[in-house]
Amino acid sequence: MHYADLYRKSIQEKKQFWRNEASKITWSKEPQNILSRENDDHYSWFNDGELNMSYLCLDAHVEKGMGKQTAIIYDSPTTNTIEHITYKQLLSSVSHFAAGLRNLGVGKGNTVIIYMPMIPQAIVAMLACARIGAIHSVVFGGFAPHELAMRIDDAKPKVIISASYGIEFGKKIPYKELVETAVKEAKHKPEFQVYYRREKGFDSLGGRNDIDYTALMKCGTVGPMEVSSTHPLYILYTSGTTGRPKGVVRDTGGYATALRFSMEYFYGAKPGEVFFTASDIGWVVGHSYIVYAPLLYGCTTVLYEGKPVRTPDAGVFGRIIEQHKVNHMFTAPTAIRAIKKEDPTGDLISAYDTSTLKQVFLAGERCDSATYFWLTELLKKPVIDHWWQTESGWPMLGTMVGLEPHDILPGSSGKPVCGYDIYLLDEDGNHVEDEHEGNVAIKLPLPPGCLPSLWKNEIRFKKSYFEKYPGYYLAGDSGYKDADGYFHIMGRIDDVINVSGHRLSTGEMEEIVSSHKSVAECAVIGIADELRGQRPIALVVIKNGVEEPELQLEESIVQLVRDKIGPVAFFKNVAVVKRLPKTRSGKILRKTICHIADGKPWSMPSTIDDPLIMEEVEAVLKSRNLGNAFQ
Ligand code: COA
Ligand code: AMP
Repeated sequence: MHYADLYRKSIQEKKQFWRNEASKITWSKEPQNILSRENDDHYSWFNDGELNMSYLCLDAHVEKGMGKQTAIIYDSPTTNTIEHITYKQLLSSVSHFAAGLRNLGVGKGNTVIIYMPMIPQAIVAMLACARIGAIHSVVFGGFAPHELAMRIDDAKPKVIISASYGIEFGKKIPYKELVETAVKEAKHKPEFQVYYRREKGFDSLGGRNDIDYTALMKCGTVGPMEVSSTHPLYILYTSGTTGRPKGVVRDTGGYATALRFSMEYFYGAKPGEVFFTASDIGWVVGHSYIVYAPLLYGCTTVLYEGKPVRTPDAGVFGRIIEQHKVNHMFTAPTAIRAIKKEDPTGDLISAYDTSTLKQVFLAGERCDSATYFWLTELLKKPVIDHWWQTESGWPMLGTMVGLEPHDILPGSSGKPVCGYDIYLLDEDGNHVEDEHEGNVAIKLPLPPGCLPSLWKNEIRFKKSYFEKYPGYYLAGDSGYKDADGYFHIMGRIDDVINVSGHRLSTGEMEEIVSSHKSVAECAVIGIADELRGQRPIALVVIKNGVEEPELQLEESIVQLVRDKIGPVAFFKNVAVVKRLPKTRSGKILRKTICHIADGKPWSMPSTIDDPLIMEEVEAVLKSRNLGNAFQ
């Protein structure tokens, strides 16, 4: 099948197209309503259908006789473990844990937060929630208690599932303590905290509402509960422009249909193949392509607890590909840059047999050409950049590998994936010409799998995505399309930055920096970083009369951001300036500061009262070597 034909069908004959795709998964009640318009911006897919995600990921395969096939390969250099878990074993664990959760009173529609390291018990917890119709919200382990507390207050979970600790480059992350601090800070108090003990005797549970994960496995088993197609499978929080994260809701039936479609036609995978996604279950990439899509499609998924480098070295991805005969790999460009930095010739990876690998998919951030060509040369396999986001849940732009071969254009994010009608619009909503930059907007309705709402926040849902261009979804990125129809994503148009493929809000960091007792006002911007793509820095104006030495002030602000957001923000630098450049209406000129730091052309804004302010900012950035322009 040709891409152009299938794509055209997906846009022009939406209902027929997705009815056909939905028929490829098992429903307990087949949907008759394929696409319904609920109101202006709200559409729902398959809203009279019923199904269960854990049934699709587990029971369906076991019933077909695939019980002995490996579902998960847990590969953890950090604990020296390699464990193969079959579909039958995974089904048994999930059914038991689901019964345990039910025993705690968790039922359909209740929320459960999962804050865990990359261990099989985390996947079991996710699927167990899905089995009983509970809505999980996985929180990335690199976030600090304050971030966890905000999610607790928004999702109001009945239970938090965690572990005694995580491991990061040999250092223990004390999850239990972090959970306790978060619960103390949150207004909402979950009824129970469930902890998986990674080491006997490592810690004692002690607390009144602390439950042992393993003990919960002894409450019998439960079968999959049918839920409506529109029933939320999960809430995944992501950064927006304000300090509060957005709770992206994912439905069940649309998501299952879209993921199955993506495995066949986008990733070109076949059931039984080995899929290795080197991300974290705390991100959307992990939800979709470590957990749900590979299992739903009957693949073997590699759950890797480690880093691309130093576990034990920069050859570890090669070792995994050879040892587990990986067919499809998915990672972020940052991971490849980290490998390239430690092993510029790639010898450590090429020492392994990577012949089973068909291609590598990259996403999470813009892929620079140097990284693309280095990896292509090293593996001699296609490298496919693809663009998507938490809100979509599956790829929006890329090269659909499962269709008849079509060209990959290095440096581009590819062409629209079936179902996505993508445009580039100017500030007034007009279509921009080819080769000109515009805001990425997708004509409604979005295809199945994309967010139906933000958790209990209809106003923010409308404001964030549909207000600017009625009838379109605003993706939050800018880009351009070339004459051959390839899209090039350039970066965010809002106050969101991308640090090592992690989406973070500079707005939130500004709120934290501003709360420091010595800070009068501040601007947090993302500057280019060779390894991480971007990293945040702050420019601060200090309050009159503050005598604190600059170094001490910097240390305490850095620590504050680390305490509030977590180490993952990679926030390291604070520079003191006398004044911040602003428009006459008082808006800080963040974009201009970014351009100065990154050495991009910029012009003096006509709205600025005193041009000397820009010179002062430039001098401070230069004196601190902050930004590509001053390296
Ligand atoms: N739990 C707890 N802490 C975590 C964490 C987690 N899951 N992930 C990261 N951190 C901590 C690290 O320990 C580190 O803490 P430190 O400042 O105390 O040393 C900090 O967050 C920064 O971590 P990271 O950005 O991962 O830097 P690093 O130097 O440890 O590793 C890379 C650099 C490039 C190897 C790493 O960032 C990486 O593997 N990136 C790829 C990420 C990815 O796959 N993203 C895709 C999302 S789709
Ligand atoms: P997240 O929601 O955390 O997955 O982050 C999504 C954001 O990451 C997008 O809006 C983009 O800004 C960025 N992103 C993801 N993939 C790509 C890509 N292939 N190229 C450029 N930017 C990307």
